Amino acid sequence: MAGRTHIERQVVPTLAGAESSDDVALYLELFETATRDVVPVHFLAAYGHSFRQHIENPVWVVQSLISNAVKEGEGARDLSETANECERKDIQADLAVHVEDEARHCRMYVQMIDTVFPGALPTKIRDEIERQFPPARFARAPKSPTSDYKILDHLIQINLGEVRTRIHQKLLEPVLYAYAPTEKRPLLCRTLCAIADDECCHIKYTASRIGALAREVGKQRCQELFSRRVKDFEAYTQTELGRQKEGLFGTKLVRDR
Ligand SMILES: [Fe+2]
Ligand SMILES: [Fe+2]
Repeated sequence: MAGRTHIERQVVPTLAGAESSDDVALYLELFETATRDVVPVHFLAAYGHSFRQHIENPVWVVQSLISNAVKEGEGARDLSETANECERKDIQADLAVHVEDEARHCRMYVQMIDTVFPGALPTKIRDEIERQFPPARFARAPKSPTSDYKILDHLIQINLGEVRTRIHQKLLEPVLYAYAPTEKRPLLCRTLCAIADDECCHIKYTASRIGALAREVGKQRCQELFSRRVKDFEAYTQTELGRQKEGLFGTKLVRDR
């Protein structure tokens, strides 16, 4: 492990199976440069240690799954907006697939609560989550098109979110396996693998699109944007961590941003 950069440890493995390309190489260079100044807290071992302090509390684990379901649903809605603003058909097609993936994940997280903790999800909370399920299918609702720079900005933010999501999943996977009833473990593993595959696909396609758009927008301009978004995302993550320290982790059923 020694000598490898944060990007090599946390991001490169998620790109496994992707065709190596100049676009992905440029994305990695942009990310590497951005994290020289600001290292995302979720890249650090301390983040995992802090996570593991809670895992013996099954209520906390159920709350994490609820929180994930809600966030996946919010993700599907935000991506839908971006897809509708995007004039470039190739990127829009990628985003449309992504919308439907996150809409499916939202439902899968709720099912996972039933798989791992049968009977634990109160009907009232289930109803509230299901009421907020995003549409399963992407429905195009054209909006005024936005610039390539703005699409690049969205893709960078989406990518940073996906990388963090994948880290969260890797932390949660063994915990869910340990809690799951033995006979449910094969089902759980299939579900976790399906979600992990999808999230890695999301990192791969956004990485490739970011690299390609960076060439069009200009590498320096893109670097400034990428570095700024890493800083913003870090501030957002730190705010979330602060809320968790106050015991407010993941129970909100309505969005606050
Ligand atoms: Fe997802
Ligand atoms: Fe995703």
